[in-house]
Amino acid sequence: MCGIVGYIGSRDATPFLLEGLRALEYRGYDSAGLFVSGSGAQKRAGKVSVLEESIPEGFQGNAGIAHTRWATHGAPTENNAHPHTDDTETVWLVHNGIIENYREIREMFETEGIVFRSETDTETLAQLIGRKYRDTPILEQAVADALKEVRGAYGIAVMAINEPEKIVVARHGSPLLIGIGDDGYYVASDATPLLTHTRNVIYLDDGELAVLTTDSYKVTSLTHALLNKEVQNIDWDVESVQKKGYEHFMLKEIMEVPEVIENSLRGRIDLEAMSIHLGGLRDVEERLKNIERIIITGCGSAYYAGLTGELLIEELVGIPVETEIASELRYRRFTADPEKTILVAVSQSGETADTLEAVREARKHGMLALGIVNAVGSSIARETDAGVYNHAGPEIGVASTKAFVSQLTVFVLLAIYLKQLRDGTGTHNEVIRELTRLPDYARRILSASENISEIAAAHAGMRDALFVGRKFQYPIAYEGALKLKEVSYVHAEAYGAGEMKHGPLALIDSEFPTIALMPLDSVYEKTLSNVEEIRARSGKVIVITTEGSEPAWTTECITIPQTHEALLPILTTLPLQLFAYYAALQRGLPIDMPRNLAKSVTVE
Ligand code: AGP
Repeated sequence: MCGIVGYIGSRDATPFLLEGLRALEYRGYDSAGLFVSGSGAQKRAGKVSVLEESIPEGFQGNAGIAHTRWATHGAPTENNAHPHTDDTETVWLVHNGIIENYREIREMFETEGIVFRSETDTETLAQLIGRKYRDTPILEQAVADALKEVRGAYGIAVMAINEPEKIVVARHGSPLLIGIGDDGYYVASDATPLLTHTRNVIYLDDGELAVLTTDSYKVTSLTHALLNKEVQNIDWDVESVQKKGYEHFMLKEIMEVPEVIENSLRGRIDLEAMSIHLGGLRDVEERLKNIERIIITGCGSAYYAGLTGELLIEELVGIPVETEIASELRYRRFTADPEKTILVAVSQSGETADTLEAVREARKHGMLALGIVNAVGSSIARETDAGVYNHAGPEIGVASTKAFVSQLTVFVLLAIYLKQLRDGTGTHNEVIRELTRLPDYARRILSASENISEIAAAHAGMRDALFVGRKFQYPIAYEGALKLKEVSYVHAEAYGAGEMKHGPLALIDSEFPTIALMPLDSVYEKTLSNVEEIRARSGKVIVITTEGSEPAWTTECITIPQTHEALLPILTTLPLQLFAYYAALQRGLPIDMPRNLAKSVTVE
């Protein structure tokens, strides 16, 4: 995810900015840059070390801003790196977040003949602030006026060459904090870069703006009402800050799921028209209208997301879908008619070798290939014809958690989008409304993590575990088994609940717990009867079900809010991720980096 640092005071800013960018590297990024008063801007694709090598002798000044970019709009190139500026190179801006209405703003400037240097949403904000600054040459006023015209999430730091002794920062949706130092004032996306300079910080809240000068700071609203903000003292160490105080990145990333769902939906739902907009598919819309078959592919969790997507698209659109493990698909004979079939490749990293090769094979056969990818500008993102980015931010834990939830969310968007291309809007309004409620539903589930932790602790000694589900919960059972395998090394199996009588029931005894996914959906009664079969053989059953339908026969029950059946997989996933995490925690295992595994499997 992008990172921002800034400094203004009695010292040279450049060394702190570079040190601060290195401190933010853990957040994941693909390019970096800085602007220093009196020396100008420098930016490079790649690592901070590449940027550092590019900085000429004498590049210094007592105020500056800097940025590490996790690409969201536009590939990770030098042109797209921050800082960005306006057409007169007067104001310089670094930004964390997504400007939703950037297209409208860009089109407005382009019709006036302004030529943009990058593909980013951020540059439109730089142009807008530059325009306001020419009307009112007071930077904080220009920033406030511009921000009234943008929609989306931002954390920004802005400087102007005419006011070199000033940094203006503002926040809406992307964290920013100010550090109060002995030698000046700091700004950063999180406290990591500040801790060696100051532990006295002010956390900006949404809708707040701050003006930093060499010897003062003030915090105001966007209408310049002065705010009296509390100075807090941070007693965390660096590692705790990076994990936002959680013990592991995996838990931090599970707890980020509500925001991740919001970011995956951001700018893609028009609640007035009840329509879905996927800008990354605009160029292939005509071809998508006439498809008669979809092949989905991926590996590991991405494959299970694909299996869920298969059910979602069949249910919501009514066209046949098949999902294949990429390492199998790439060797199979492609028999589908490439004119009427598309491939959808799912990959968090966008670099999984088997998935990439499956994309190449499908395209060799003339098939249109779409990507559902988290890493912007990655190989799969570049080699597919079009796609939808997750906007889940970098996922540090090897076990996929927030990215998997984002993949499911994007599949719902894709299904409704395909349906509206074929039959217009209006078919799935309830699903769209419920999509917007998912972040709050997820928060409700996460707030009960203590219960999940206790259940996991009660089974920490398990050697085996079985996950069962039906219909939309069937692929989630497999994902839950994978999570438990990956981080706690327990032998975990998954089955369609209806399969129990055909063999797996022989496994069941009092030492072989079953996790049953049985929300109040269209197959609840059937699943319940399968669970009764398990209980009748002394099998212990941990139930995941809908609030208010907790069975009387167990206290080991985790509940989720009720919602549309097609969205339930997004919610039942969360207890499974937490169950796996807490089971591994009980076993004292290296949760973020399990043995034998890598975050991105770039070898076949
Ligand atoms: C998921 O928890 C695993 N880390 C792994 O199965 C992963 O999903 C798989 O390697 C695919 O990775 P990708 O999404 O980056 O392509």
